Amino acid sequence: MTSTRSGTPNAKIFVSDHDSEGVIRQSLNDLGVSDAEFVTGNIETAAAALATQTSPKLLIVDVSGVADPVSRIDELAERCEPDVGVIVIGDRNDIILYRNLKNAGVVEYFFKPLVRDVVKRTCNNVLTGNNKQSTPRAAKLIFVVGLRGGVGATTIATNAAWYLAEVRQRWVMLADLDLYSGDAALQLDVSPSHALREAFAKPERVDKLFIERGRIHAAERLDLLASLESLGEPFTIDESAVLSLLGKLQQRYRFVFVDLPVRAAIGIIRVLHQPSTCLLVSNGSLASAREVARWRARIGANTPERRTLHILNMSGAPGSLPKAEFLRAAGQSPDIIIPYDREIAVASNRGITATQKCASLNQGIVRLLRDLMGEPEEAPRSMLSRIFG
Ligand SMILES: Nc1ncnc2c1ncn2[C@@H]1O[C@H](COP(=O)(O)OP(=O)(O)OP(=O)(O)O)[C@@H](O)[C@H]1O
Ligand SMILES: [Mg+2]
Repeated sequence: MTSTRSGTPNAKIFVSDHDSEGVIRQSLNDLGVSDAEFVTGNIETAAAALATQTSPKLLIVDVSGVADPVSRIDELAERCEPDVGVIVIGDRNDIILYRNLKNAGVVEYFFKPLVRDVVKRTCNNVLTGNNKQSTPRAAKLIFVVGLRGGVGATTIATNAAWYLAEVRQRWVMLADLDLYSGDAALQLDVSPSHALREAFAKPERVDKLFIERGRIHAAERLDLLASLESLGEPFTIDESAVLSLLGKLQQRYRFVFVDLPVRAAIGIIRVLHQPSTCLLVSNGSLASAREVARWRARIGANTPERRTLHILNMSGAPGSLPKAEFLRAAGQSPDIIIPYDREIAVASNRGITATQKCASLNQGIVRLLRDLMGEPEEAPRSMLSRIFG
């Protein structure tokens, strides 16, 4: 019946009891789905499995006996491709749970015992693309703005995107908006394309197929849009074209990073006011500290939907201001500090797999991603757990 995602079954079902499995199996048989994959388990089993597998079109997960189903759904959603349709089954007849699951983007919640006709109709809607719900959650949007040249913005953007995709198994897009001298592709060991220029020149042409053709595959879950346009053909980026492209990318990925040159950022302030996190990257110089204060003022106070984080990179490099003076010029403490480490500069010549191994950079990236994903800081380990853990 429906086409599969390159060898992935159309439907995967993680259910804990045989009665529900029987009803779902029969419903899918009625619909002619012959490639459904059944696993005895629940939403936690599903999250673990989907961390390493391509998502099916239809995913059915059991939350019976699970303590906090809505949080588990949020975790699961971050690991799946955005357009997967999720049906949840459980043992609680609870309207609040139902509403919360629907708000989390679930197509439908059914409590047991399941009714075959209803299950069949809902599965059919998902598999044929007729489900009205299942509005995929838009990706988190992260701007990375280097406040002076060479402060390490691209290093941070590429390493954060890579870590999130390869270690944390999230679907990530990195768009390098420096169309003339961006080096995100170089840092990720892939070749740029001309898709970004085309996307900005003819925004109306950008659709799912355009993104699929133009993206550069940098890792299993990491795609890149990056160009290296001819210097003889100047081109200005239009704000509404950027807004339009980002909106489309946000429907296809879980995290969209934008490496945004500061000179381009000046002209597209509306873009920076989208629900997002804006990472202002500086080094420890006076010039950079002043820019932090100026950009914080320019962007304005944080709101519940949008905030600014300051990463002080290359801290302690020759020419850095003493801490107190830096604070005075920047106006407030940095949110994340990454030290100057020669190993990072040396590794960058050998590409992303080498920079990922730099502990000083990695620690900063892990802290940043925890913050972006809303995860609590790791508690300091107790003496006993350090000895026995
Ligand atoms: N914490 C660090 N310690 C030492 N070297 C670093 C550090 N962070 C980045 N670098 C190095 O600094 C150089 C510039 O980094 P990068 O290209 O990421 O900066 P950028 O802000 O994107 O520059 P541009 O203005 O050209 O876009 C690279 O060689 C990189 O390896
Ligand atoms: Mg750069």
